[in-house]
Parts: sequence; C-alpha cells; structure tokens
Amino acid sequence: MNSLAVVILAAGLGKRMQRDCPKVLVKTISKSLIEHVVDTALSLNPERLVIVTGHKKELVEEALAKHNALPSLSYAFQAKQLGTGHALQTALPQLAGFNGTVLVLYGDVPLIRTQTLKTLVDLHEQNQAALSLIALHDNHDHDYGRVMRDAAGKIEKIVELKDCSRQDLLIREFNSGVYAMQSALLEPALASLKNNNSQGEYYLTDIIGYAYNAGLEISSLLIHDAEEVQGVNTPHDLCIVNKTLRDRKIYALIEAGVEIEDPSSLFIDEQVEVASGVKLGPQITLKGNTKILCGANLEGCAYLKDTFVAEGAVIKFGVRSENAIIGTGVSVGPFAHLRPGTKLEENSHVGNFVEVKNSNLKGGVKASHLTYLGDCVIGTGTNIGAGTITCNYDGYAKHQTVIGEGVFVGSDTCFVAPVKVGDGATIGAGSVITKDVAPHSLALSRAPQVEKKEWSKHNRKIRGG
Ligand code: UD1
Ligand code: MG
Repeated sequence: MNSLAVVILAAGLGKRMQRDCPKVLVKTISKSLIEHVVDTALSLNPERLVIVTGHKKELVEEALAKHNALPSLSYAFQAKQLGTGHALQTALPQLAGFNGTVLVLYGDVPLIRTQTLKTLVDLHEQNQAALSLIALHDNHDHDYGRVMRDAAGKIEKIVELKDCSRQDLLIREFNSGVYAMQSALLEPALASLKNNNSQGEYYLTDIIGYAYNAGLEISSLLIHDAEEVQGVNTPHDLCIVNKTLRDRKIYALIEAGVEIEDPSSLFIDEQVEVASGVKLGPQITLKGNTKILCGANLEGCAYLKDTFVAEGAVIKFGVRSENAIIGTGVSVGPFAHLRPGTKLEENSHVGNFVEVKNSNLKGGVKASHLTYLGDCVIGTGTNIGAGTITCNYDGYAKHQTVIGEGVFVGSDTCFVAPVKVGDGATIGAGSVITKDVAPHSLALSRAPQVEKKEWSKHNRKIRGG
C-alpha cells in the first residue's frame, strides 16, 4: 500500500442550506457533517490530513478542537470560494514533498464508510490508475454531476448538473465526490482548470477530463447505495442523512437485543444509550444524553430528552420528560410531564395528568392523579392525593415545599410554599396549607360543612316537584 494523504474540502458557505454557519458545521442527529468526514478519514490513519477551510474557518477549527493537536493534521485556507478545484489547489503547499495516494473527500458527504474508502484506494493502487472515483449507479434522479463515458465505456469527463443537456440528465451514473489520485497528477491537473462554466467556478471534476485527454488510467468503484454517498446541499438532503443515521442506529440496537415495536416511528439521537432487553413501543423520540437501562419498558408515544431511566422502570403512554432521573421500578404516566430537575426514586409512581418540576420524590412516593409538584422534596412512602398542588410561585420568586416520610396528603390540597410538613402527618382533603405542620399531626384548613334541612324543597325548582 502506498503512503496515504487525505484532503477534505470544507470551505464552502453552502447557500442552499440557508444557514449562516459554514455548511460543514450543520449538525446531523449526532455530530456535524465535518466531524463525520474527519472521523472516517482518521480511521484510515493517513500520513497527512489536510482540511481546506474558508468561510468562518475559526468555527470549523473549533468544532474539530479535539483533533487539532494531531501532528498529521493541518489546515489550508481558501480565502475566496472559487470552486472545488481551487479548494484542492490551496491544499498543495501542505502536500509538498508527499509522494503517494491522495484521497479527496468533500466535507458535505458524511456517510461514506471506511471500508468503501479502503476498497477505492486498493482498486486505485492495483490498477496503477492516475485517478479513481466512486460512481453511484442509481435509477433515481440526483442533483449530482453525471459521469460521461466514451464509446469504449471509459470515463471521459464529469458534467455538473447545471451544465448538463437534457440528454445528459438521463444518465444514471453519478459522481459521488470521492476521489483517489496519484500525488504527481495534482499539480499539472489543477493548473489546467478553467472556470468557463455555468457557475464560473474551478471545478475539481474537470481533472477527470484532463486525465482522459492525457491518456491516463482512470478507474471507478461502482456502488448502488445512494445513502452512503448522500451529499448535503439542501435541508432536504440533511433529512435524508439523518434518516440513514437513525436507521443505522436502530439496526444496531435491534441487533443488540432491544425490542423495537415500530422502527419507522422511533426517532433516536446517535448518543442515546439503550440497553439490551429494553422494550420500545411506537411513536417514541429519544434525544440528547438519554440512557435507558435493562428491563425498562416504554409503552409508546413518549418524548424523552436527557433523561435517565433505571432498570425495570415503566414509562406509560404519553409521557414527556426532560433532564430527569427515573429510578428503578418507577412507573410514570399515562400522560405525565417530567420537567427539568425531576428525580423519581426507587418504586415511586407518577400517574396521569401529573406534572413534576425540580422535585425529588423519594422511594415509594405515589402521586397518582392530576397533580403539580414543583420545587419540592417528598419523603419515602408518602401518598399525594389527587389534585394536589404545590403553590411554588408567589409572582416574584419560587419557594420550596418539603414533605416528610409516610405523610398522607388528602385530595385537592394546596401547599403554599415555603412550607414544611413533618413525617407521618395527615393533611385533610381540600386543605390550603400555609403554615408548617408538625410530625404526626392532622392538618385541616377547610370551611366547616353547613347543612340546612329541607332547603332544596323550598329554594330549588325540582322537575315534577
Ligand atoms: C460536487 C461535485 C459534483 C458531485 C457532488 C457530490 C464539483 C464541481 N461538483 O457538487 O460533481 O456530484 O459534489 O456530492 O466538485 N468547497 C470548498 N471550496 C469551494 C467550493 C466548495 O471547499 O470553493 C467544498 C464545500 O464546502 C463542500 C464540497 O467542497 O464540502 C463540495 O462543494 P459543493 O458546493 O457542495 O459541491 P456540489 O454542488 O455538491
Ligand atoms: Mg455538495
């Protein structure tokens, strides 16, 4: 195998993405486009890795900070984005003295696999080609350059979409934007480029025409997997890439023993961790640093972001959770909302139409129905009756409610924070608790019941009465 250098072209703005960051910094469900390409490039252990930056180059360098100390890595600066050919030309000083195979990758083609690149390099070197490229054969249409072949079937040139005739557009062999080249080819080939095309750019693709006219060997690796060479030029292209990343992730989870009822309705970020044996029902979104441990069961229709779910927890239908910790054996929902700072400890239960925020429910606490728990700590084994509300906000600041262990809170109770309830206390239904309650007391704050005999007979018109 020859010495290997990789050049990644990443200087473009990417107008079609309609963002103001450099296109290669657009994030997929896992990492930015450029991080995908750099990670793949590094998996090949190249002697040199040159990244061509331009538009907001400092942001691109910042995104790659963890690699910047690598002795093999260097940046080339393309001040004006005059085209992909011009971009590669700006990398020539960093390739000075290099003799071997130069692999050129586009920073907006993120899903190319290490194995495919190795196959291209092997083919290139075995054929002793001056230049080799990966060509996509696909019956669907793409906005990529068309690979033109001569009567003998040899690759003759690449024609960009905007320069294609109607007949050219019918060609179903596309340029992927991945090339292996002999280092000696670069200087003369790049010097030959002209910008007399519809976009007024120096196209890298024109070096294929140069090699053909010079009678040099051009080889091609044909692939049929359009997803692998998907370029990201538009927001729609990004959706396609994200779908592929998701499919790859879901496939890996299924292989690892996660039970996924409907893979087509599972939306999962790359870094989410799901243990073997977890059950995931339909319509589930798992985002950010969510981690789900063994034996947990998500019934379906749930949105979890940055949420930790411990062993054996059950997330019933219709739960939204963000920045929360759900302990072992806990059950949540149906229709519950866990907001940031929620910690539900072992075997606690949060039922339907319950909202919890910045609160710690210790082991075995039950809040089964229609309740708001905000800024509170609730001790082990306490039962929170239906319709309980912690009134944590006085219009100016948030205050805490602290409820002890083994407390029984009757239905329709309001705790006007700040307030504390001691261990073992009982709160009568319908109470508004404004003062601290001592341990084991009964606290009641409701109007006494009044009963007036026969009142209805005289004051209410009863049908037929
Ligand atoms: C390019 C190819 C096209 C191929 C497609 C595959 C050319 C002329 N066309 O088109 O044949 O089918 O990729 O995805 O090469 N860049 C620079 N400097 C520049 C211009 C671009 O560094 O002056 C970088 C961009 O940041 C991007 C990459 O080069 O990462 C490709 O540029 P882009 O404008 O996306 O080319 P396409 O139109 O997709
Ligand atoms: Mg592109």
